[in-house]
Amino acid sequence: MKITISKELDEKQEVLFLGMFEEDKLVDKRLAEELKEAEKRKAFAKKFGEMLPAKFLPYKKVVLLGLGKKKEFNLEKLRKILGKAVDCAKSAGYTALTTNIVDLALSCRLNAEMAGRAAAEGLMLANYNFDKYLNKEKKEKNKPVTHVVLKVKSSVSKSLTSFEKGLKTGEVIAECTNFARNLVNEPASLVNSVYLEKIATELAKNPRVKLKVLDKDEMKKLGMNALLGVNAGSRNPPKLLILEYNGGKGNGGKGNNKKGKPIAVLGKGITFDSGGYNLKPTHYIEDMKTDMAGAAAVLGLIKAACELKLNRNLIGVMPICENMVSASSQLPGDIVKAYNGKTIEIGNTDAEGRLILADALAYTEDKYKPEVMIDLATLTGACVVALGYYAAGLMGKDARLLGKLKKAGDDSGDRVWELPLYEDFDDWMDGEISDLNNIPTKGKGYEAGTITGAVFLSKFVDKVKWAHIDIAGSSCWRVDGMYQHKGATGSGVRLLSYYLLDN
Ligand code: BES
Ligand code: ZN
Ligand code: ZN
Repeated sequence: MKITISKELDEKQEVLFLGMFEEDKLVDKRLAEELKEAEKRKAFAKKFGEMLPAKFLPYKKVVLLGLGKKKEFNLEKLRKILGKAVDCAKSAGYTALTTNIVDLALSCRLNAEMAGRAAAEGLMLANYNFDKYLNKEKKEKNKPVTHVVLKVKSSVSKSLTSFEKGLKTGEVIAECTNFARNLVNEPASLVNSVYLEKIATELAKNPRVKLKVLDKDEMKKLGMNALLGVNAGSRNPPKLLILEYNGGKGNGGKGNNKKGKPIAVLGKGITFDSGGYNLKPTHYIEDMKTDMAGAAAVLGLIKAACELKLNRNLIGVMPICENMVSASSQLPGDIVKAYNGKTIEIGNTDAEGRLILADALAYTEDKYKPEVMIDLATLTGACVVALGYYAAGLMGKDARLLGKLKKAGDDSGDRVWELPLYEDFDDWMDGEISDLNNIPTKGKGYEAGTITGAVFLSKFVDKVKWAHIDIAGSSCWRVDGMYQHKGATGSGVRLLSYYLLDN
């Protein structure tokens, strides 16, 4: 999708999306009659998201889009309404559109750079189709838009420059989010550990990036038995993929502390989660190809760092394996010793994400001594119950770090919502015949499942500032949104891109 900026609406485009706030009165004379008539019929009250098709030469088609009340307009609404325009154009078979919506948004005192990012994201995320397995006929029905002309007639040239800068950034972030979505939407038989290693190898062609791969033998030597236990039933080899992105100049660039310590981002990479011997039933197992959404987000983030030439040092750590049933699989009741020496009883083979992250977190802190560790993981079904799709669960004990992530989530629309890691939960994962159990040993065993998952992970973080983000709900929607669609969302890419860019 090509996005261009023009001082006027581009009459060469097939379809015009004309945004209107509720308080907007002035409208082109050619439309005034139609609008008055529609208002009388109560067909269009300019409420946010309302649409009214109209006739208006020279465009083949005009669609009036309600923007709601001016004072309620914000960046997320900008993403949504542009997403709606793209969806509408796609389903009507138009591939080029023009709109005044950005111009109106900029009149609302929105930060121009952030509006640029939001505009590109809303347009490009809505334009995403996972259609490679559809036949030509079906593909044609929802063809992506190839050209968007945004009218921006800003009187302040500074804000136009900021908007353009944000637009460029947003284009990269959206492209990398769509890249992550593709990895998550592809079937698990294709996207296995070897495939993900290939993707990481591709990224490492960038001179700023180095790839380190720990294979099974190295993991054995290092004592990563929590990860190895999960992989025991799989015919695909386990991998710990580590992408080092060096963007910090000398002793660390902007935002890195004086010692140039990196920021580590970890992503759960279970390429298929059958549950293991605690096998998942029908209605729970079908989407488990998406259990590597954390790792996909880390890959998307490193790609974005490269394209944005981010001046920071990052470490992307992805424990990759499969949770399968076989004669060699880990058994309920097994006890494994993790990288940091703690013993874990396997109370449930389906609580596997925390096991692979346990080794990855302990190893990352030990080896890289990062400034901050942030993990993204489709960790618990409980998080989908608690928060649904529109926010990921955020947990940790460093209030400043959590605050920054919350802000990045609100700005980017890739939201997080904090769940409390009260110290009351501290012993909930303690084992009875081992240091820890991978399921709670207190209460009924299912209370605050997202929090107890985080408590388990916290036992593998020693001193470093750490945040855990449970993306079980946010990474894969079962409903359509206004710029987000059913299926993978690339959750985490926008969130952490904003976090890194704005801190
Ligand atoms: N991958 C699942 C969590 C999940 C569920 C992600 C739904 C996306 C959608 C995870 O490995 C899991 O199975 N967790 C268990 C933990 C329990 C056994 C303590 C769960 O949530 O039931
Ligand atoms: Zn599981
Ligand atoms: Zn899982």
